[in-house]
Amino acid sequence: MIDWYRMAWPGLRLLPPERAHGLAVAALGVGLVPESPADRHPCLEIRVWDRAFPNPVGLAAGFDKDARVFAALLRIGFGFVEVGTVTPKPQAGNPKPRMFRLEQDQALINRLGFNNGGLVAAVNRLSSRGRGIVGANIGMNRDADNPIDDYLRGFKATFDRADYVVVNVSSPNTPGLRDLQGRDALMELLTTLIEVRAQITPAGFRHTPLVVKIAPDLDDAAKGDIAAVALAAGIDGMIIGNTTLSRDGLTSDDRDEAGGLSGRPLFARSTALLRDMYRLTDGRVPLIGTGGVASGAEAYAKIRAGASLVQLYTALVYHGPGLVNRINDELVALLKADGIATVADAVGLDA
Ligand code: FNR
Repeated sequence: MIDWYRMAWPGLRLLPPERAHGLAVAALGVGLVPESPADRHPCLEIRVWDRAFPNPVGLAAGFDKDARVFAALLRIGFGFVEVGTVTPKPQAGNPKPRMFRLEQDQALINRLGFNNGGLVAAVNRLSSRGRGIVGANIGMNRDADNPIDDYLRGFKATFDRADYVVVNVSSPNTPGLRDLQGRDALMELLTTLIEVRAQITPAGFRHTPLVVKIAPDLDDAAKGDIAAVALAAGIDGMIIGNTTLSRDGLTSDDRDEAGGLSGRPLFARSTALLRDMYRLTDGRVPLIGTGGVASGAEAYAKIRAGASLVQLYTALVYHGPGLVNRINDELVALLKADGIATVADAVGLDA
C-alpha cells in the first residue's frame, strides 16, 4: 500500500498547520490512507471497562473534533479514537492563526479554543458507526452561564453513542475551564454527572464509563485533591493529560505563541504526572497516558508508569498514519525483550 502521507508531507509542511490538518481530514474522508487492522498482535489486546481494546494506542482528542473521520482513523490501526472536544452549541474558536508547528522541538502550540460544529451534528455522525472503540470528549461553550449544565448536555447527548465519555476540564484555551479541576468544583461536577448517569441509564444496561482529562500543570496539592476526588466520586478513568502552558527548553521560533504545547517536550512532564496519579490512586483507576508519544518506547514507558492505554496527536502530524503500526510493532518487540506475555502485564510495572 502506498504511504500517501510520506509523499505528501513535504508539501503539507509548507502549508499553514490548520490548512494541512483540513487536507489530512479530507484525505481520510475519501480513504487515501494506508489501511491496517488494529488487531494484528493478540498480545496487545487489553480489557478496560469490560471492553476489549485491540491495541492500546489511541488517537487523542482534537484531531477529529466533529466526529467526521473516526471510522477511517480506526482503519489505519488505532486501537481506539476519541472525538471532540464538542460543546453544546457550535462555536468558531479563536481568530487565526491559532495553531503553530514547532518543528525543531517536534511540538505544536494551539489556541484553537474549541472550534467545533456542536453536539447535535457530532452525535448524528456517531449514530451511524460500525465496529471499533470511540470515545466522546465533551466541554463547555466559551459563553456558558453554568458550566455544569453544558457538561450535562454533553453527557446526555453522547452517553449512548460512545464507548466512554471524557469530561475535559483541562484545555488551556477556554477561560475558567481549568478552574473546574479545583477540589470542590470537580467533586460537584463529577457527582452531578454520575447521579444523572444513574438516572438515565436504562435498567439492565451497563453504564458508560466517565473519564476525566486533566492538565499536566498541577502542583502536589492539586494532584492529591484530584486523586482524592476521583476515588471518592467513583469515576472510571483519567486521561493524563492535556497540553501544557510550560515552555521549558524550546528552541523553535514560535515558542512564545500563546496556547497549549503538545508533542515531545510534554513527554517527561506528562509521564511523571501519570506515575504520580497511578500511585495516588493505588492503581484502582484506569489511566490513559497522553503527551509526547511518538514511538513504541514512549508508549511502553507510559504503560509501565501506570497507563492501561495511551493516546497521541502531535506525532501523527510529524510522522503520518504509518506511525500507528510502527508503535504497535515496537511495543510487541519491547514486551518480548522483557519476557512479558501481554501488554496488560506491563501496566504499572515501574510505578
Ligand atoms: C489538542 N488537544 C485537545 N484535547 C482535548 O481534550 N480537546 C481538544 O479539543 C483538543 N484539541 C487539540 C488540538 C490540537 C491541535 C492539539 C495538538 C491538541 C490535546 C490532545 O488531545 C493531547 O492531550 C495533547 O496534544 C498531548 O498529546 P500529544 O499531542 O503530545 O500526543
